Amino acid sequence: MTASVLRVVAFSFAFTTLAALAQAQQQPIAYSHKKHIALGLQCLDCHSMADIGPAATIPSVTKCLLCHQMIAADKPEIKKMADYAAKGHEIPWQRVYGFEPQALVKFNHAAHLRAKVQCATCHGDMTQAETAQKLVNHNMGTCLTCHRQKGASQDCATCHY
Ligand code: HEC
Ligand code: HEC
Ligand code: HEC
Ligand code: HEC
Ligand code: HEC
Repeated sequence: MTASVLRVVAFSFAFTTLAALAQAQQQPIAYSHKKHIALGLQCLDCHSMADIGPAATIPSVTKCLLCHQMIAADKPEIKKMADYAAKGHEIPWQRVYGFEPQALVKFNHAAHLRAKVQCATCHGDMTQAETAQKLVNHNMGTCLTCHRQKGASQDCATCHY
């Protein structure tokens, strides 16, 4: 009896922890990182500002259509994509990472790429992911831990407006 209660408690704990960490977003199109990276595409082919700007950026639907004008054009998910483009809309992707606006955080991808911090250090193994999920949690503690280890700035003004 005690054992089975424990098992139930352990199970629901594992379940809520995983659910909290993964925080799967319902995305408008069933895009697969795994499938596209297997084709040989690189992170920077799509997130093309990550090495030169503060934001990595999400690719425009027009970039997807460079291939999908022809490739799998008859598939329902690709038709949905083409409909957004025909109306002049971007795909309304739901953001996965980010901070509450009131925390006034300024993050900068390019600074980290120059310092050779890998995408996977902060986003986990996206080569096996379908749509993105939050595989790594970021908060002030996790930022500061690495900044301390690597001798990067710990000034409030480095990370806050
Ligand atoms: C040092 C940690 C770190 C590294 C390294 C990193 N990211 Fe990020 N990334 C973040 C954080 C934190 C956010 C949320 C930033 C925000 O909302 O201000 C983010 C946001 C994003 C976003 C959301 C859209 C946007 O415009 O920012 C994408 C896409 C992304 N990262 C892709 C990448 C890719 C691809 C790489 C490698 C080339 C990478 N990241 C490297 C921490 C990192
Ligand atoms: C370099 C070319 C290329 C680019 C760019 C590209 N894709 Fe693809 N995509 C493919 C190929 C190849 C397949 C596999 C097609 C198949 O299985 O028949 C695919 C498959 C898909 C599928 C699955 C279709 C299905 O139902 O079978 C979706 C959804 C998709 N891509 C969305 C996107 C989105 C969204 C973008 C832009 C962010 C994008 N693709 C950019 C080449 C590309
Ligand atoms: C073919 C284009 C394409 C490639 C290649 C690609 N991504 Fe993405 N990525 C997307 C699209 C589209 C989204 C938005 C949908 C989603 O969240 O899954 C996205 C979302 C993300 C996000 C979540 C952004 C946020 O906060 O909402 C991260 C992190 C990310 N990608 C990292 C990577 C990394 C790391 C690689 C390389 C291993 C990579 N991506 C390769 C198209 C791509
Ligand atoms: C895995 C290690 C690591 C993590 C995690 C990390 N950083 Fe960094 N960060 C660095 C390194 C290394 C540098 C580069 C320091 C340099 O150029 O001297 C840097 C630089 C920066 C800079 C640019 C400073 C400048 O030169 O203008 C900002 C802003 C920043 N980090 C914010 C953040 C925030 C916010 C987080 C958490 C969301 C974070 N970092 C997480 C390692 C990390
Ligand atoms: C290396 C980056 C970094 C440095 C340096 C840093 N912070 Fe932060 N701070 C963050 C991030 C990222 C968050 C957002 C955490 C979250 O959303 O969980 C945050 C959140 C906060 C918050 C909570 C804001 C809110 O309303 O949620 C306060 C207050 C704060 N920081 C104050 C400071 C002060 C004061 C300093 C200097 C002593 C400082 N921070 C230095 C990255 C940093």
